[in-house]
Amino acid sequence: MSEPCSKRINPKQREFFNERAEIWDTITTHDAEKVAYIVSLLGLKGDERIMDVGTGTGVMIPFYEEKLTSGSILAVDYSEKMIEVAKKKFPEQEHPVVFQVADIYNLQLKPEFDLIICYSCFPHFPNQPLAVSHLATGLKAGGKLVVAHSASRDHINNVHVEAGKVVSTDFLPPMAELVVMMTAAGLQPVFQRDDEEYYVSIAFRP
Ligand SMILES: C[S@@+](CC[C@H](N)C(=O)[O-])C[C@H]1O[C@@H](n2cnc3c(N)ncnc32)[C@H](O)[C@@H]1O
Repeated sequence: MSEPCSKRINPKQREFFNERAEIWDTITTHDAEKVAYIVSLLGLKGDERIMDVGTGTGVMIPFYEEKLTSGSILAVDYSEKMIEVAKKKFPEQEHPVVFQVADIYNLQLKPEFDLIICYSCFPHFPNQPLAVSHLATGLKAGGKLVVAHSASRDHINNVHVEAGKVVSTDFLPPMAELVVMMTAAGLQPVFQRDDEEYYVSIAFRP
């Protein structure tokens, strides 16, 4: 099992998300067709163990659930208020999901996941190479790490500039830099899309 690799939590950033948790689903929109396209790239068979990183209010849960037959989801977020909202929407007793309040840098990981996906949260990780290398330790052989947004890199970075001081420097890296991070973490990049519509990068553990 890998050791937690950082104790750093940015309290202001966590507070930023806590303060918005109750209204998150009214201030953000997710194009269902675009999210479904991203999920279609994952090649889910139905029995996967998935980690939804930075799950927020659990917007991705129904999209995974639709594909899962016997698999399960660990949905992680360091904002306890986001997790409270997500739990109300998707009670653990009725959905194949377990929620965990945790900073991803502090997760104790062992190679048990078929898929670890950072949907719409990667820019907020302060040390992105460390996030990639740490999350990679949670992948089984053949398991995939995915960083995905259903908008362009420029759009996401501009949204953060305009969203206020706390997240104004939370940027998506150029795709080539993310590929280097994934390779340095021992992963094999298999898919990238970086255009006006999407920012998606997928790599697997050989
Ligand atoms: C922009 S929101 C996206 C939430 C959700 N994925 C969505 O698409 O609506 C980013 C989420 O990442 C979480 N987050 C940011 N840094 C984190 C960290 N180090 N560990 C765990 N969660 C984190 C935030 O609390 C927030 O809920």
